[in-house]
Amino acid sequence: MNGNSKLPHILVVGGAGYIGSHMVQRLGQAGCRVTTLDNLSNGHRNAVLYGELVQGDVADRQLLDDLLTQHRFDAVMHFASLIQVGESVQHPAKYYQNNLGHTLQLLDAMRAAGVARFIFSSTAATFGEPLYSPIDELHPQRPINPYGRSKWMVEQVLPDYEAAYGLRSMCLRYFNAAGADPEGRLGERHEPETHLIPLALQAAAGQRAHMSVFGRDYDTPDGTCIRDYIHVSDLCEAHWLALQHLLAGGGSRCYNLGNGQGFSVQQVLDTVQRVTGRSVPVQDAPRRSGDPARLVADATRAQQELGWVQRYPRLHDMVQHAWQWQQRSSNSTL
Ligand code: UFG
Repeated sequence: MNGNSKLPHILVVGGAGYIGSHMVQRLGQAGCRVTTLDNLSNGHRNAVLYGELVQGDVADRQLLDDLLTQHRFDAVMHFASLIQVGESVQHPAKYYQNNLGHTLQLLDAMRAAGVARFIFSSTAATFGEPLYSPIDELHPQRPINPYGRSKWMVEQVLPDYEAAYGLRSMCLRYFNAAGADPEGRLGERHEPETHLIPLALQAAAGQRAHMSVFGRDYDTPDGTCIRDYIHVSDLCEAHWLALQHLLAGGGSRCYNLGNGQGFSVQQVLDTVQRVTGRSVPVQDAPRRSGDPARLVADATRAQQELGWVQRYPRLHDMVQHAWQWQQRSSNSTL
């Protein structure tokens, strides 16, 4: 830890975004010092509820060097990335530049400043088409789109950086992040929105005429895709435990973070209808390219090694918290 205080000082890159802002809140509530670096391209200034917000880009090496030498951070958490699979197929250069290139630059700046603990937001998309289910950490990683490959490339770089430079890292592979701060202060605000739960809630609220169901002909019980939805607060708890592990001198690890339960698109829509008490107008649409039929995590390793326990495993709670946020944000100027 730094010499100025006993509390760890954490740099959260992308701390104004959906998952990053919940993490900033988790760190702030635990009494940590937090600095957010975010270019606000997808994040929101008023989502940073704790610490200092530095508006800037990871591509700005001078800014990174200044920030990292000025503050002597104990660890860096890196949430800033592009996340749309379809867009990554259309614009792979953008994805490799952002998700790989900018991460390498961040790691170099950390190396130059002597910051040696790194928590990386990876994804289930690094696995590609599942060979078995649920997916554990030993499952082969064969990503099938540039988004997944850009994250997988960073995962491959990290062990080399540890061996040569002593940089210890935690790779956290998210399945489908969902829900919102249970107290209603934060939530998901993507522009444009592409994710199932917020789109279904917007359709239920009458903010869009309908939403599309991408494929009803999958080899699943009701024909729609199955995903593993994990509450954003539970994801942040896993990051918190991962941070404690690194601060205590623990070695690098990778963890799959999911619920261990799969829910189909239709089950999600049914839950949205139950929670909101409104119908969700849907239109059936063709399969979306690159969507595997089923993605479910085996998160046993995180539970056993980090002591991770989910507080909100019920899909109902995730949808309820997201709905609470959706209602609140549409009634205010957020
Ligand atoms: N879906 C619809 N209609 C929509 C939007 C989504 O039917 O309008 C379906 C998708 O086809 C998929 C499921 O709902 O079957 C979930 O889709 P999301 O877009 O909400 O999430 P993804 O599973 O595609 O992606 C998420 C993250 C990615 C990450 C991936 C890893 O957003 O960043 O999980 O599994 F790569």
